[in-house]
Amino acid sequence: QRPIVRLLSCPGTVAKDLRRDEQPSGSVETGFEDKIPKRRFSEMQNERREQAQRTVLIHCPEKISENKFLKYLSQFGPINNHFFYESFRRGPTMWPMLECSGCWQGLYAVVEFCQKESIGSLQNGTHTPSTAMETAIPFRSRFFNLKLKNQTSERSRVRSSNQLPRSNKQLFELLCYAESIDDQLNTLLKEFQLTEENTKLRYLTCSLIEDMAAAYFPDCIVRPFGSSVNTFGKLGCDLDMFLDLDETRNLSAHKISGNFLMEFQVKNVPSERIATQKILSVLGECLDHFGPGCVGVQKILNARCPLVRFSHQASGFQCDLTTNNRIALTSSELLYIYGALDSRVRALVFSVRCWARAHSLTSSIPGAWITNFSLTMMVIFFLQRRSPPILPTLDSLKTLADAEDKCVIEGNNCTFVRDLSRIKPSQNTETLELLLKEFFEYFGNFAFDKNSINIRQGREQNKPDSSPLYIQNPFETSLNISKNVSQSQLQKFVDLARESAWILQQEDTDRPSISSNRPWGLVSLLLPSAPNRKSFTKKKSNKFAIETVKNLLESLKGNRTENFTKTSGK
Ligand code: CTP
Ligand code: MG
Repeated sequence: QRPIVRLLSCPGTVAKDLRRDEQPSGSVETGFEDKIPKRRFSEMQNERREQAQRTVLIHCPEKISENKFLKYLSQFGPINNHFFYESFRRGPTMWPMLECSGCWQGLYAVVEFCQKESIGSLQNGTHTPSTAMETAIPFRSRFFNLKLKNQTSERSRVRSSNQLPRSNKQLFELLCYAESIDDQLNTLLKEFQLTEENTKLRYLTCSLIEDMAAAYFPDCIVRPFGSSVNTFGKLGCDLDMFLDLDETRNLSAHKISGNFLMEFQVKNVPSERIATQKILSVLGECLDHFGPGCVGVQKILNARCPLVRFSHQASGFQCDLTTNNRIALTSSELLYIYGALDSRVRALVFSVRCWARAHSLTSSIPGAWITNFSLTMMVIFFLQRRSPPILPTLDSLKTLADAEDKCVIEGNNCTFVRDLSRIKPSQNTETLELLLKEFFEYFGNFAFDKNSINIRQGREQNKPDSSPLYIQNPFETSLNISKNVSQSQLQKFVDLARESAWILQQEDTDRPSISSNRPWGLVSLLLPSAPNRKSFTKKKSNKFAIETVKNLLESLKGNRTENFTKTSGK
């Protein structure tokens, strides 16, 4: 039978976020949902990377028959799973330099084959498009464009995993109708955590970038790190990538035999930093010139941690590519472990992050704001300080480590236990409501002028310098991860924390009945200012309050790229 569609390779393009409630039933385990992931971080990373290598991204016509589409693709090999999502057109202010032709908006399919070989056959059956107006730079990627030969023959619309996200009103109601504050925190977590599909798309994007980087460094690995993998990622968060060249560096190590030692001829540069800058510079050029869908490439090479920032339009991710940043990957692993140890951790972190975003304590613009990473560290520290502790200190995770866990990176001891089953669960039974209130009280009264936060020892220490907020980097212990935070931003955080503790205190005596839809609990905390909040908690149903919450939730949902302050904050 003749195929009814043909694939064109896509020469070079933003996606609406995939929402949890649109997850197809029977989808695979995410490891990021209600149940606590028990797999090792490295196992999870390797498994997902391998899946991504068998996966392709296809820009599809708006109307397509799913069955015929799958039948067509099955010619190239058996398909393990697939999903569709819709991307939207980014406004001109975001990419002023681009003539937003709209060619990247529309329907996309992520198709995972059972075997990697199928991708080769698919590429062999694909051609580079040619137009009269422009010249395509030939590039065989795993990002394709699917065209219909006969436009009229395909009428049906496929079920896309991001049809309509839950409306703000629904989300607001969901929180207001929750049974308890604990329930509200868990609801917020479910609504904002990364979906299975979104996670797959993140790994796929890294894998596509890896294909490009492999042109220079055939054994490189592009690994996602940060909130995309540490279980604290909110839908829309940026995609942090790390170009891992360890395989390239160590290839010769196990090939030594006899009395000879072979070394690669290499170019030498004066420092590791210069090497990093050179590597990233060339990759930035490569992504800019040849990377399908990579736009707005910025080389930020003079930052403390040099990086290349770009937008991967088809997936909609704002990407930060770094190299020589293994410690950040290790801190992602540590956060993954903390997130997995107790189900309260992620619920609390998500609420604190949403609260901070709602009050503009965090921002998408680099500056003197507190970052999500710092907020996560503060929650972890607070949970280590509970009695009995909810989370163990990093030092105690180090004591539980075995020989396999030993790890020293650039002279920094990064040893800690990787096997989750070796860490004893906490005996602490405090509710999320209590923890949230106590969190605000604790940091509303913390001696920031004298003390630093340190998750390694789980106790306050004298500040080694005069930075307003000092949170010790858990592995590079001489660094402050919140060095960028100004006194006024810290003061704003303290004032809001005190106010929020007070509001939650009031809630104890002033909780509405279940059937009421007036803002209460977590919702009151997310409202913008104290006078408004007070009146909200007193009025039965206030239209303005509903509008405010709607807008607020909109901003939370639409917030794609929350924090880029890491370059200044490291
Ligand atoms: N990082 C670090 N020191 C900093 C900032 C960041 O070590 N001062 C590392 C952390 O491992 C962090 C990762 O870099 O998780 C990515 O930084 P960033 O994108 O700022 O934070 P995320 O944790 O990814 O949170 P977000 O959702 O805001 O992107
Ligand atoms: Mg990030």
